[in-house]
Amino acid sequence: MRGVHHQGSAQGFAGRVVEWLAFDNMQHQWLLLAACFWVIFMFMVASKFITLTFKDPDVYSAKHELLLLTTMPEAGKLPEETRVPEELKPTGRMLSGSRLAQPLVYMERLELVRNVCRDEALKNLSHTAISKFVLDRIFVCDKHKILFCQTPKVGNTQWKKVLIVLNGAFSSIEEIPENVVHDHEKNGLPRLSSFSDAEIQKRLKTYFKFFIVRDPFERLISAFKDKFVHNPRFEPWYKLEIAPGIIRKYRRNRTETRGIQFEDFVRYLGDPNHRWLDLQFGDHVIHWLPYAELCAPCEITYSIIGHHETLEEDAPHILREAGVDHLVTYPTIPPGITAYNRTKVERYFLGISKRDIRRLYARFQGDFKLFGYQKPEFLLN
Ligand SMILES: *[C@@H]1O[C@H](CO)[C@@H](O)[C@H](O)[C@H]1NC(C)=O
Ligand SMILES: *[C@@H]1O[C@H](CO)[C@@H](O)[C@H](O)[C@H]1NC(C)=O
Ligand SMILES: *[C@@H]1O[C@H](CO)[C@@H](O)[C@H](O)[C@H]1NC(C)=O
Repeated sequence: MRGVHHQGSAQGFAGRVVEWLAFDNMQHQWLLLAACFWVIFMFMVASKFITLTFKDPDVYSAKHELLLLTTMPEAGKLPEETRVPEELKPTGRMLSGSRLAQPLVYMERLELVRNVCRDEALKNLSHTAISKFVLDRIFVCDKHKILFCQTPKVGNTQWKKVLIVLNGAFSSIEEIPENVVHDHEKNGLPRLSSFSDAEIQKRLKTYFKFFIVRDPFERLISAFKDKFVHNPRFEPWYKLEIAPGIIRKYRRNRTETRGIQFEDFVRYLGDPNHRWLDLQFGDHVIHWLPYAELCAPCEITYSIIGHHETLEEDAPHILREAGVDHLVTYPTIPPGITAYNRTKVERYFLGISKRDIRRLYARFQGDFKLFGYQKPEFLLN
């Protein structure tokens, strides 16, 4: 009896404790929830503060930053924790006034590239060796310690003019004759490949480095129009050699006798065995090779990546960050030419099979991901 009574009262006590705990738990849950919100809020405030005060100037550090040249895939395997402090490392850069007002968008673009470079599944589409081909794409402005990787169809002729003026061969952009812009014997704008290995490494590590990208499919349309439809400059090889070469291998309808169509071009670019023709076409392929193969963004730590779609803001920002905005101005951009035009993209891909478009996307997926361009679902599904 005693045992039972005792047991009963123990149960009663336990029950009361459980009840009390349950009631108390409810209060605790609310307190805990409030505490959590407070912690998250404080964390957000703190991280914004850290980002703005420390991270920003380092990522933006222009020429004097000791940039790490990440040539190894191991860099892609670093865990998150070891990565952040590295970004916060002091870099001996001379701060020139307030950088706090810098838009975060440029920093986010570089962060995206770092993250996509780490993605094993995209490795073949994002990584490229720093070969002579890549070094040929990069132009050198020694006077102001700037490297510019050439990516056609994003206004890069204008950038070349800007750098030619900065190098001192001409005193203004208007004075540069059109035929000299692309003549690297005469224009005083050497390619990085023309230096010795040690000189190349030094420049890659210490100079301000940038390049410009645009929506990958719109870029291909622009290249197609420029090289095969209009061909304004005297470059007969596109129509006389390259177009017939593509048609021979990729034309679907053999009775079709018109000149090269966008469909032929898409089928060539999306073919996993495209390299066979690429080799025959030589350096002309720069007009349609993925940006990742032209500029090696996973191997070279660029200071800024500009977007053609926002060139109006990006061009002056790049000149400011390179520390040359008081010396030269980017030429006026005609209104409306930089905006992405979905209607145009839809029109060009009209009638091209989903299979061919999906293969094209598979090839250019690295560029879409690295530079934050949206997957064009409206063409793929
Ligand atoms: C990457 O390319 C190599 C050789 O070019 C191939 O063996 C490998 O399977 C490819 N990996 C992926 C993920 O496509
Ligand atoms: C192939 O091209 C010819 C000439 O343009 C055209 O008449 C014919 O309808 C096309 N065939 C197919 C299957 O598209
Ligand atoms: C977009 O492209 C279409 C087709 O090429 C053209 O008619 C239209 O004017 C363009 N829109 C803009 C805003 O440029």
